[in-house]
Amino acid sequence: MSATDFPAWSREVAGRMETVLAGLLPSPRIAPSRLHDAMRYAALGGGKRVRPMLVFAAGQVSQADPARLEVVSAAIELIHAYSLVHDDLPSMDDDVLRRGKPTCHVEFDEATALLAGDAMQSLAFQLLAEHRLADDPVAQLQMIQVFAVACGSRGMAGGQAIDLDAVGKALTLPELENMHIHKTGALIRASVLLGARCGRPLDPQALGSLDRYAKCIGLAFQVVDDVLDEESDSTTLGKTAGKDREAGKPTYTSLLGVPEARKFASSLLAEAQEALAGLDERADRLRQLADFIVRRDR
Ligand code: IPE
Ligand code: IPE
Ligand code: MG
Ligand code: MG
Ligand code: MG
Repeated sequence: MSATDFPAWSREVAGRMETVLAGLLPSPRIAPSRLHDAMRYAALGGGKRVRPMLVFAAGQVSQADPARLEVVSAAIELIHAYSLVHDDLPSMDDDVLRRGKPTCHVEFDEATALLAGDAMQSLAFQLLAEHRLADDPVAQLQMIQVFAVACGSRGMAGGQAIDLDAVGKALTLPELENMHIHKTGALIRASVLLGARCGRPLDPQALGSLDRYAKCIGLAFQVVDDVLDEESDSTTLGKTAGKDREAGKPTYTSLLGVPEARKFASSLLAEAQEALAGLDERADRLRQLADFIVRRDR
């Protein structure tokens, strides 16, 4: 598993995700077709698919069945797509561009975008309930519980609430870290933990290592998102650049400046790699993904 084949592997996961999601999302030929159209518009045909990559990479550590990993990846990507649709609404970040296309509420309408997000969230949990993810049903219920917490008011949705409340305020670094850990870190952490738990039971030490890795890389992901919002352009990002500054959002770049924010992301990357030190080459995809997450340009 050499680092040079990472681009091919990541393309393969992204392609597989597209096929799986296209098969799982309701057809627009089924009523209510406008809602189904909006769900497919938001979930298909774009995105880096980093969270599915984390699920598959963590699943390699526990030698998990790829069929299970597909279901978990699809559920997480549906929650992520729903979070983006709602994040872009006029009542939240009020964005018009996402993944290089008009945002869902611009292409459809606000009510449809709200409902598409709601329905993608329900579909995610439906998938986790309908498919076998663990040999032991109790273990599977625990996985669904971990995932629900990561999505809800003590996870992503809670982080989004903190984000909205922080507009125009000067947060301290610990407050900013808390916001990022919730709004973005929670789902990334769940991707790694659920991927790992689809396979053979790992000892507590290995699970602890994966969790430390996931926490570091989840925070690093949003630090880099802040840097790219400040430094990149809308064409490269496929979303409106410079939005955080314009909206008066506290970010790692507004607090530390770009060079320090980049340094912080690099230190989180080093900590994530260090967390994996005790794992063998089965963790190599996770190592490569950590590099990708911090060095990406979109
Ligand atoms: C963007 O996530 C929103 C954040 C949580 C920072 P991604 O950068 O993973 O978005 P896509 O899926 O590639 O469009
Ligand atoms: C969004 O953070 C996090 C979630 C969608 C949960 P941002 O608001 O920074 O994401 P982008 O930059 O619009 O993708
Ligand atoms: Mg936002
Ligand atoms: Mg946003
Ligand atoms: Mg952003």
